[in-house]
Amino acid sequence: MATGSTDRKVDKLIHLLVKNATVVVPGPKIASEIGVTRQQVWTWIEKLRLLGVEIRGVPAEGYQLVTIPDILAPSLLRAELGDHPIGRNFAHFFRTESTNAVALKLAAEGAEHGTVVVAEEQTAGRGRLGRVWYSEKSSGIYTSIILRPPLSPASAPVLTLMAGLAAHKAVSSTTGLAVDIRWPNDLLVNGKKVCGILTEMSAELDRLHAVVLGIGMNVNHSVMPAELEEMATSLRMEVHRGVSRVQVLATLLRELDRYYQLLLKNGNRAITERWEAASTFAHGKRVRVVTASGEAQATTMGVEPSGALKIQYDDGRQESLVAGEVVEVK
Ligand code: BTN
Repeated sequence: MATGSTDRKVDKLIHLLVKNATVVVPGPKIASEIGVTRQQVWTWIEKLRLLGVEIRGVPAEGYQLVTIPDILAPSLLRAELGDHPIGRNFAHFFRTESTNAVALKLAAEGAEHGTVVVAEEQTAGRGRLGRVWYSEKSSGIYTSIILRPPLSPASAPVLTLMAGLAAHKAVSSTTGLAVDIRWPNDLLVNGKKVCGILTEMSAELDRLHAVVLGIGMNVNHSVMPAELEEMATSLRMEVHRGVSRVQVLATLLRELDRYYQLLLKNGNRAITERWEAASTFAHGKRVRVVTASGEAQATTMGVEPSGALKIQYDDGRQESLVAGEVVEVK
């Protein structure tokens, strides 16, 4: 078990309450089924309540779930996933600094391909280009997936596009929203960002040891902080109802597994073609290109099999972008 990760017995407790959702389960029964004291059960119930899980306590009788909780507990996620490599192992945290940092550590210790790290809250969520990822408790999905692809480090950009595609599919199929992907992999709804992906890896010159796909999604935030509200939104704010994080994450993991198999079987083009079909940024989009060397305006001209974005600057120069970001020019 990863250091600091949620005790497996808490997962058992959630599972037990969900399985018996319509009845009051006596405290001593819960305690003996999961092998802890009644005092421990009470402490965990209090912790779950702080995460927004509604549990009714009936004096001298026991506990009853009021609603099915939307907590990213392994037992609830597993019930939605088939038996696929991605999601076979989970490390769940109520709170951690960054799921990417945890996943990189687990990968260095030999964690299997497909291991998923997930947190209800991050205290130091990392964004791209050294930014911070706003990680409000119980509202978003903060997850990092460890992959061990039999590919060269040059394939890392296409793995990032693949993660964007899986997230795109998960959001559109669970909410019905129209979702766009801004290269390389920001998901936008009505022009505002709902999801970002930070890929980190450990590699030798010719071989990838492990890739960590870190995905942050704004799901049930009721408002975004003032400094983000112009550019970011949440799924709840767009569909005007709560969205099940368990459903979105389970769909995302299933899709990721499917696209990963497709990539290994059919090669990069199978991913980049689908990416081009899903993104209005692929062709003919007027953008401001921001790289380490400065900013300039350009028009997009498709994605290369490597995942690089082809652009033509307004002075006629063409380039394939592998890093940096693009912003639509209206
Ligand atoms: C971006 O800047 O768009 C990328 C944001 C990636 C955030 C996610 S949240 C889960 C994972 N852990 C982190 O520390 N970052 C990524």
